[in-house]
Amino acid sequence: MIKIAIIGMGNRGRRYAAQISKNPDAEITAICEKNPSHLYAAAQKYGVSRENAFLSDTEFFEKGRLADALVIATQDRDHYGHAVAALKLGYQLLIEKPVSPVLSECEEIAALADEKSLRVVVCHVLRYSSFYDTVKRVIDAGEIGDVVSVNDTENVGYWHFCHSYVRGNWRNESETGPSILAKCCHDLDIIHYFTGNKCQEVFSSGSRKLFLKDNAPEGAADYCLAPCPHQKTCPYDAKKIYYGITRYTIPKMGVHIKVVTGKANPKIKDLKDVLKTSPYGRCVYKCDNDVMENQNVALRLENGVNANLTMTAFSKGCFRRLHICGTKGEIIGIDSRGKFRLNVFGGPSKTIKVSSGGVFGHLGGDRMIVSDFIDLLRTGKPSTRLSLIAVTLESHRIAFAAEESRKSGKSVSLL
Ligand SMILES: NC(=O)c1ccc[n+]([C@@H]2O[C@H](COP(=O)([O-])OP(=O)(O)OC[C@H]3O[C@@H](n4cnc5c(N)ncnc54)[C@H](O)[C@@H]3O)[C@@H](O)[C@H]2O)c1
Repeated sequence: MIKIAIIGMGNRGRRYAAQISKNPDAEITAICEKNPSHLYAAAQKYGVSRENAFLSDTEFFEKGRLADALVIATQDRDHYGHAVAALKLGYQLLIEKPVSPVLSECEEIAALADEKSLRVVVCHVLRYSSFYDTVKRVIDAGEIGDVVSVNDTENVGYWHFCHSYVRGNWRNESETGPSILAKCCHDLDIIHYFTGNKCQEVFSSGSRKLFLKDNAPEGAADYCLAPCPHQKTCPYDAKKIYYGITRYTIPKMGVHIKVVTGKANPKIKDLKDVLKTSPYGRCVYKCDNDVMENQNVALRLENGVNANLTMTAFSKGCFRRLHICGTKGEIIGIDSRGKFRLNVFGGPSKTIKVSSGGVFGHLGGDRMIVSDFIDLLRTGKPSTRLSLIAVTLESHRIAFAAEESRKSGKSVSLL
């Protein structure tokens, strides 16, 4: 039985815990989480003893190695400290992306893992979803010939963007990192994974257009539930986004009720109360956000391959639109639809169906990454899609270069 510890039992940590607990080859033996409500609820749910449930990361690491592997699901800027402490103790790691918002820290973690002969798997969960896995197989089977270009639009969804990048954890670069790293290192990883080509040059531009103080409508309250005179007409109203279902809203962020309330077993009343004063209840025009709302990245890859990535806050749905052009055919698809189109030039066109898996489980990727990680620990053999740090850091390097380019207005060489 593979023993796994988890640090950070928030939104992501809970998802990994749920998947680990379903795997017959693994068990959760220790948890570290600084929020007591989340810690003790998870310890009880997964049968972790009180001695192995830690509120303090210092105490957790002082205990020595309590499992074969550690899942690091704390916030972006905590990953480095937790990864270094864990690798020194001999833990294999499943680490959330971004590995760190500081490139040298990412590289240091990769070097330390190498020195200790330990495996670090980065949670580039898209690779593991049925949609991307099947696209990769079609490309590898040569059905579209050599890949010439990849166009990827990441439509974050206005409600998701507000939750994470205006009001929430990834809104301010100094606390986390730029949105092109936080949101799109997945896309940059997929571009590298599909083409097999490293990036040689990057140009990027980005903007903040809407969620700015100057755009607050006349008389807008600081908190939506204050109440605000614009509550009925504002699409970003916290009530609409979290619990007020109307014909035109997508109140999916209700699944983040635990994040918003900080409680393990919240009620809708807790949500309503907390939104009166919590960061998640703030007027979207009056937050301390500074990350890009919209960003384009143009990549020149090895072997004459090009790629374009667009990240936008301004879409109704949360999905990625992909167009991969090859010398013999093309792949066109929207990942959340559970299918894509394969057009072979001068040959047949077909729709390939995949299992959809659900937007909030990354189309099934959350489940499959855990399964592949446990197989790695069991057998020592990495699956071909495994997102090991040495390879997947390419996605982070491109994101850092894109930011450099956006800020300088010049293209950045990665040669
Ligand atoms: N792979 C993906 O697609 C994906 C999606 C969303 C988020 N993420 C990443 O996953 C990570 C976690 O995100 P989340 O949404 O779960 O955030 P979260 O805030 O819900 O969870 C983080 C948890 O870590 C706990 N924590 C923070 N510092 C701690 C410490 N020192 N010791 C113990 N516990 C501590 C917090 O109390 C919280 O419960 C972030 O790095 C985020 O960028 C990845």
